Formats: sequence, structure tokens, C-alpha cells
Amino acid sequence: MAEDAMDRVVDIETFSVEDESSEVTLRPDAWSEYIGQEQIKKNLSVFIEASKKREEALDHVLFYGPPGLGKTTLALIIANEMNANIKVTAAPMIEKSGDLAAILTNLEEGDILFIDEIHRLSPAVEEILYSSMEDYRIDIIIGSGPAAQTVKIDLPRFTLIGATTRAGMLSNPLRDRFGMSFRMNFYSHDELARIITQASEKLEKKILYEAAFEMAKRSRGTPRIALRLLRRVRDFADVADEADITHTRTKYALNELGINSHGFDEMDLRLLNLLVSANGRAMGLSTIAAALSEDEGTVEDVLEPYLIANGYLERTAKGRRATPATYDVLNRSYVNADGTLF
Ligand SMILES: Nc1ncnc2c1ncn2[C@@H]1O[C@H](COP(=O)(O)OP(=O)(O)OP(=O)(O)O)[C@@H](O)[C@H]1O
Ligand SMILES: [Mg+2]
Repeated sequence: MAEDAMDRVVDIETFSVEDESSEVTLRPDAWSEYIGQEQIKKNLSVFIEASKKREEALDHVLFYGPPGLGKTTLALIIANEMNANIKVTAAPMIEKSGDLAAILTNLEEGDILFIDEIHRLSPAVEEILYSSMEDYRIDIIIGSGPAAQTVKIDLPRFTLIGATTRAGMLSNPLRDRFGMSFRMNFYSHDELARIITQASEKLEKKILYEAAFEMAKRSRGTPRIALRLLRRVRDFADVADEADITHTRTKYALNELGINSHGFDEMDLRLLNLLVSANGRAMGLSTIAAALSEDEGTVEDVLEPYLIANGYLERTAKGRRATPATYDVLNRSYVNADGTLF
């Protein structure tokens, strides 16, 4: 069951219905509940306060970084702080330029438009977005052929908040039109432990700090995973009729679930095992992507950042390489050509 459970619990891409609904209740809606990302919070609150003072819409904001680090949550907090209406959508839902035009013309002064996965907009849709962001105006073509006419429509001052896990795939003109852009960081164990503790208060289940910290260590630096682990461990505690979530119960539950003690998920392990099999040599991005059946961008923007941040992977001129720490955690030794241990 371990393999299977790990798929469900640590995989960051899958998003079950249960997660959706419980994440709504656990999602912070004020700055005070949003833990970590201190620099982003500090900057954003200055800009929010300034635009409220001037009674202007906030400048367009871009959040980028790996999944589950709190981009959507930040967008909702901004809306809350600005007392603004927020319209939430995702790029795959905006297929034609007409779809975007319809959304834009329905906005009101000061509204926030949140577009998730913004790197996935088609070029034609992006084109409309440029002029709306810069000039608050769009040109719509009505009719076709020689009778076609361009109609200019003025838009209210609105704020676009874009989010993406794949910053590298954003076109330059689009990136340049955001007044602010913020890269999300992975969370420290202590921050994740605080997020877990705060969430368990909302779930009305007491958790001991060592237990929260144990979950934090195995959460891949990611709040979404931390909260998922909390819910699973809580199930174990409830079934055992324990009022509090203890360290012992947590370790037992996490081991039962097959959660790796370094916070690696299945994809991380596949990537690291692949790199280690190269015996210290570097491997090119395209080779890695092909071996994992993933596209290069996903490997680069979603998988690698956590491993690099934690010293398990390095990018070299020749490609990607596992570090000595990787050989260590995978219990493998590597012998250099000259007989020395890697
Ligand atoms: N700083 C934080 N403090 C407390 N909880 C957080 C924080 N960041 C994220 N969370 C929680 O983690 C969950 C995932 O966050 P969110 O949905 O905002 O991530 P995301 O970056 O938008 O992910 P994706 O790229 O997959 O859309 C949310 O339920 C939220 O409650
Ligand atoms: Mg999101």
C-alpha cells in the first residue's frame, strides 16, 4: 500500500475534490494567517496601502513558483485587503480572444482579475491582454472580410493578478506588463510547522509541536503537501481515539503512508535515481525529460527547484548532476575514475 498511498498523498499535481473543499476552509484570508514569504508580504502591503491611499487600482501583479506555495491564496488575500471583487479564472478556460473580451468588459472599476496558469494563454488572447493591461482599452474586430470593423472599447481600471508555475514559458511582452512580479520561495520547516499548527486549530484538533515539525520535514517545502499530511495523520489519530496528534502517532502514520523522510515525492525519486544511475556524470535536460516522460519545462520549473534548493541536484554547463548528498540519501556510493569516492 505504501507506493499507492504515496501517489495520493505527496503527488502535488493531483488535486482531489476532498482537497479542494477542505483547502477552502484552511485557506488563510488575512495577512495575519499567511505564514512566511516575509519579503513578498512586506512589499505587497506597502503597495496595497499606497494604492488605497490614492484610491487607485493596484498595479498588475505576477506570482510565479512551484505548485502549492500559496499563489492563489495571496491573490485572494490581496482582494480582501483591497476590498475588491475578484474574478477567478485560468488560462485554459479562455480559448478565444472573444472569451477574454467578455470577461474584461464585465469588470468594474477596481476589480481584480485572477488568471491562473497564465503561461498557457494563446498568442491571440495574449494580444488582447497586452492592450487591456497597458491602455485599459481593447480593439475588437467585428465581422470578417472587407466588411470587418475594428471597435475600440474602453475598460475600467482593473488589476490583473497572474500566477504561473512556469515562469520560463511566459512571453517577454507579457512579463514586462506586470508592475510587480514575485517569485515564491519554498517554506522552512518551522514555517510549515506553524502552518500545520494553525490549520489544526481550525480543524479543532490539537497537535504537539514535534508532531507538526515531523510533518513539516516531509512536506517538500510546500504548504499544500503539509496540509494534506496533516489531514491524513489526523485520520490515524481519530481512529486511535487520541485527542491530540502526538509525535509517535505522526511518525507511525507517515511511515504507514510511505512518506519519504526527506519530503521527496515519487517524481523526485524517479529523477534522483535517474541522475544517480549516471554515476557522477551530468545528464542533459532533454534526456531527463524523455526518460521521465515529462516535458522539459516541467522538469525545470516544477521538479528541479526543490531539489536544487536543498542541495540534491546541481545544474552544470553539461547538464544536471546528482550531488554527493543524493548518493547518500539513496544509499548509493559512487566511485570516480581514479578510484576515489564521489
Ligand atoms: N503562507 C501560507 N500560510 C498558510 N497557508 C498557506 C500558505 N500558503 C499556502 N497555504 C495553503 O496551502 C494551500 C495551497 O496554496 P495555493 O492554492 O495558494 O497554492 P498555489 O501556489 O496557488 O498552487 P498552484 O500552483 O497549484 O495553483 C492552500 O490551501 C493554502 O491554505
Ligand atoms: Mg493556485
